Amino acid sequence: MRKLLRNISRMVKENLALIRSTITYHKIKLFYPRVKLGQNVRFYGPIQLRISGTATVHIGDNVTFRSSTSYNFVGINRPVSIYVGDQATLEIGHNCGFSGTAIFVTSSIHVGSYSNFGGNSSLWDTDFHPLDYRLRRVQLEGTRTSPIKIGEDVFIGANVLILKGVTIGPRSIVGAGSVVSKAIPADQIWAGNPAQFIRYIQSAPIDYNANSSQLEVLPA
Ligand SMILES: CC(C)(COP(=O)(O)OP(=O)(O)OC[C@H]1O[C@@H](n2cnc3c(N)ncnc32)[C@H](O)[C@@H]1OP(=O)(O)O)[C@@H](O)C(=O)NCCC(=O)NCCS
Repeated sequence: MRKLLRNISRMVKENLALIRSTITYHKIKLFYPRVKLGQNVRFYGPIQLRISGTATVHIGDNVTFRSSTSYNFVGINRPVSIYVGDQATLEIGHNCGFSGTAIFVTSSIHVGSYSNFGGNSSLWDTDFHPLDYRLRRVQLEGTRTSPIKIGEDVFIGANVLILKGVTIGPRSIVGAGSVVSKAIPADQIWAGNPAQFIRYIQSAPIDYNANSSQLEVLPA
């Protein structure tokens, strides 16, 4: 009996989450015409958006945004937030996942398909303030900004900070809590502050059976 009640309660919660996600999806379509959303984009929990009227935002199919620990028990401590400024561009490919991620774009950020961002990770393509103290006193002009480019199948650990100008090659991994300030080539693990090379990744060859959607890992 208890098991049945638990299952019912879980089903109700899942369906409510889906309904809320669908509402958010349509609200974004209505209020943010600059945002092009793909099919089946899911929003678990509230998302904070600030998108300039001159920005370009493309989000691919099957992208998931998780904004609360109710939807990911890694310990998300803030909602996903996305700021895209004047003339700036944010492109997110298909099948990506973000948990409590802060994305701040003043020039451009590109994220390749199948990339995942761990709890409370951040992508900032700007320093936010000028380095010259005299400019800092009076204005934000003179702030350095540089595009971020993340390849496909990249895995970013929890609490990672990716700074302006960084590129990360396909399939690479960044360890939890790292601060990434330099380019990371493809197929490598980097970690630490500042993030440094840890080792190469060797993926076993796989056979993709398109009919069953199963991945079969072949002996190396
Ligand atoms: C990056 C990671 C996948 C690497 O795992 P691994 O290949 O098993 O690495 P190891 O534990 O063998 O560590 C290899 C070296 O890297 C260091 N290292 C690993 N992760 C690190 C990190 N996050 N920060 C700093 N150094 C790290 C280790 O101390 C070790 O250093 P040493 O060779 O000097 O002893 C793993 O450490 C990690 O960060 N996992 C967390 C993933 C995560 O955040 N998931 C998302 C949750 S939402």
